[in-house]
Amino acid sequence: MRTDSPQTIYRKDYTPPSYLVETVELGFDLDPARTIVANRITLRHNPEAAQDHRDIVLHGEDIELVALRLNGTELNPGQYIVGTSTLTIKKAPLNVVLEIETTCAPEQNTTLSGLYVSNNSFYTQCEAEGFRRITYFPDRPDVMAKFTVMLRADKQKYPVLLSNGNLVEEGDLDNGRHYAKWEDPFKKPSYLFALVAARLVCQEETFRLADGRNALLQVWVEEGNLDKTDYAMQSLKNSIRWDEERWGLELDLDRFMIVAVGDFNMGAMENKGLNIFNTKFVLANPATATDVDFAGIEAVVGHEYFHNWTGNRVTCRDWFQLSLKEGLTVFRDQEFSADMIGTDSGRAVTRIDQVRTLRQAQFPEDAGPMAHPVRPDSFVEINNFYTVTVYEKGAEVVRMYQTLLGRDAFRKGMDLYFERHDGQAVTCDDFRAAMASAAGRDLAQFERWYSQAGTPIVTASGTYDEEAQRYTLTLAQRCPPTPGQAEKLPFHIPVAVGLLDAKGRDLALNGEGDTTVVLELTEAEQTFTFDAIAELPVPSLLRDFSAPVVLEYPYTDEELLHLFRHDSDPVNRWEAGQRLAMARLLRLTAAVQNGEKLELDYTFIAAQRALLVDETLEAAFREQALILPSESLIADQMEAVDPQAIHTARRFMRETIAKVLRNELQNAVAANATPGPYSPDAVSAGKRGLKNLALSYLLAAPDDFTLDLATRQVAEATNMTDRAAALVALIHSGADVEAQLQSFYDEFKGEALVVDKWFAMQASAPTTDVARIRELMTHPAFTLKTPNRARSLIFNFTNANPSQFHAPDGSGYEFWAEHVIKLDALNPQVAARLARSMDRWRRYLPDLQPHMRRALETVAAAPKLSNDVMEVISKALAN
Ligand code: TRP
Ligand code: ZN
Repeated sequence: MRTDSPQTIYRKDYTPPSYLVETVELGFDLDPARTIVANRITLRHNPEAAQDHRDIVLHGEDIELVALRLNGTELNPGQYIVGTSTLTIKKAPLNVVLEIETTCAPEQNTTLSGLYVSNNSFYTQCEAEGFRRITYFPDRPDVMAKFTVMLRADKQKYPVLLSNGNLVEEGDLDNGRHYAKWEDPFKKPSYLFALVAARLVCQEETFRLADGRNALLQVWVEEGNLDKTDYAMQSLKNSIRWDEERWGLELDLDRFMIVAVGDFNMGAMENKGLNIFNTKFVLANPATATDVDFAGIEAVVGHEYFHNWTGNRVTCRDWFQLSLKEGLTVFRDQEFSADMIGTDSGRAVTRIDQVRTLRQAQFPEDAGPMAHPVRPDSFVEINNFYTVTVYEKGAEVVRMYQTLLGRDAFRKGMDLYFERHDGQAVTCDDFRAAMASAAGRDLAQFERWYSQAGTPIVTASGTYDEEAQRYTLTLAQRCPPTPGQAEKLPFHIPVAVGLLDAKGRDLALNGEGDTTVVLELTEAEQTFTFDAIAELPVPSLLRDFSAPVVLEYPYTDEELLHLFRHDSDPVNRWEAGQRLAMARLLRLTAAVQNGEKLELDYTFIAAQRALLVDETLEAAFREQALILPSESLIADQMEAVDPQAIHTARRFMRETIAKVLRNELQNAVAANATPGPYSPDAVSAGKRGLKNLALSYLLAAPDDFTLDLATRQVAEATNMTDRAAALVALIHSGADVEAQLQSFYDEFKGEALVVDKWFAMQASAPTTDVARIRELMTHPAFTLKTPNRARSLIFNFTNANPSQFHAPDGSGYEFWAEHVIKLDALNPQVAARLARSMDRWRRYLPDLQPHMRRALETVAAAPKLSNDVMEVISKALAN
């Protein structure tokens, strides 16, 4: 075990920087083995800092210092202090020019943070604290400076040299080298710095902005991928238009570049004017990418572009404020995707997807050892806090402002936020203050959404007084304890409510004839009354998922069936179906555990059938409504999680539905074909989604006919969506697919993203055990070094294949421990994400827990563990 315990950083300890940086001039002599970085910064003492605080603190990691000059004079080692990750110059003058020369070794850098090599080209990733791996600098987001960058590299090997802002000069040098000089006109924090020196080609276009200016848009990819850039380019143009129209926000540069790289830790990065993307979120054509991939590209291209205002022009004061930019930008990309579909039902489907993600990933985080508020109070490693809580729950918090204030006042709040804070590094409180001022509302209690972790539970109960024609709804809230927060104060919760009559129609709830009202729950318990209610209603609560809470109401099956058939709010209609299904799945799981006979009632199947055949509903909605709650959602509802019983129960339910609805499912497959050229639009994608869901149901009870149906779809599909869906359905059915898998691989072995799919579909199949995973790891295409590839096999096994990962003998956990340790030596960020697969180990069956503990302890005892992994593991093991 390591002896030096990693340091915890606290939000309350924030102090302004002692020095501000005005300008940064960087010179790079790029060489994979030894890159020389010359850095000239002008600093001035920060008037916000104490007058006598004259220490300049620079960060630096894994770099060699070659020379250091202060105001023209070389400093010798006695004049500065080098710590493990800082360089401090004591008692500096008020105005300082520092010239720093360092070297680094990009080809040795497997962390993919800082300057690194991927497929023989150079890329950077600086968020959150990667810039310090490039040069010494006050690497904190509240230090914003103007950057000028000179890149020098071999012209043959690296014909393309890119950095932030505008290209101001380029030309040839001696020895086959060339140079390019870039200038970013906007001041920015170091985490937004980027450079690319690579052999790439681009699709480009001139695009007219709202104010009449022209901007050059470029999507840079490796040669051979230009047939996969159209959708990213189209998404970029749509993003620019949408930001102008919905928020009045314009592109502020003459040039905007997207670069795709195959080795990348996350989805993409919003570097000013030079967004760097994981290839997964750029490259797509119908033959290689699925509908889900296309939707992901649109969302991520939008997300990074929208950061230009929410993140870059207005940035974060410190990393505890991360959700200021991430929650807001996720909210913006969610709204963008919804507006791109345009229809109400299309919007609802995107909302259902968001609710599913939140429940599947964020609620468990909020209930586990890594639980933290949207604005955390402390961290050991900031990279561990790029979480679903900061991103997705953060987006829900932003959405709640809009729900509470109304769209118009919310827009005024956004305008005021930019008016007040353009060019600044600010806090979540600043955002809330802008919203409160613009809307003229007191949002003091709303602050608790930022400071308290945990998922609030809202319990509802209703009474109807026939005589008074009055419906009374009582709402109560509580929030379970989370690490470090035993007691919680009430939240300010918008609860959107509708009331359905016996025919399923919405009742008018007030004099204005509104059919949905937003109740504001601010106390531990509150009562709301509705007058002129002519009959006993069925309440539709938390419409459109108006707050990130668990809603408890003692619904009867009859009430849920009523909502499932009639609710005008599509999210709650879907929700009623999920509740009906979950109740049955839990009963079936218990029956499996008790060795009882498994039975599924016909009432439920009939409701599913009615929805499946309802042609008035969009296919995409029907698909959502027919997807059963996942094994991990079922697990969250159990006292002691039994992965095998859950798997058996869910399988039985799918098989039973498949047998009873065989005709309807076959009809759905036939009726939702999408002949003609492929289009990723929401209606076509919805049809494919429903068709392929129906196919996967049919293969839950396979016979010659359904096996043949899927086999033909694999062979004849004209797009990857249909092809992959049919192949996955076949794998899950237990059919012999070896030949099909082989020919899929042979056909696509040159397409890295499709090879990732090939690994992923095997890793997540319940027919794949840990022994088979180990075998797949010896495949020549497998490597731990490329995060996409490691994720495709390892993460899909540990996170998406619960019945095999939780094998009763603990072999899955052993595999997990081994690979957390192996990955940690290469890439701590990715290793720490894998480490989190074991977060909730204490919730499993008593027989499994000792195996899990042993695996966690194995990792904890490994020598030279990164802070990243250490933080996750020690929190998991803590009491
Ligand atoms: N800011 C990026 C985004 O959400 C996230 C990101 C990209 C990131 N790469 C990273 C965060 C590396 C931490 C480390 O758009
Ligand atoms: Zn982001």
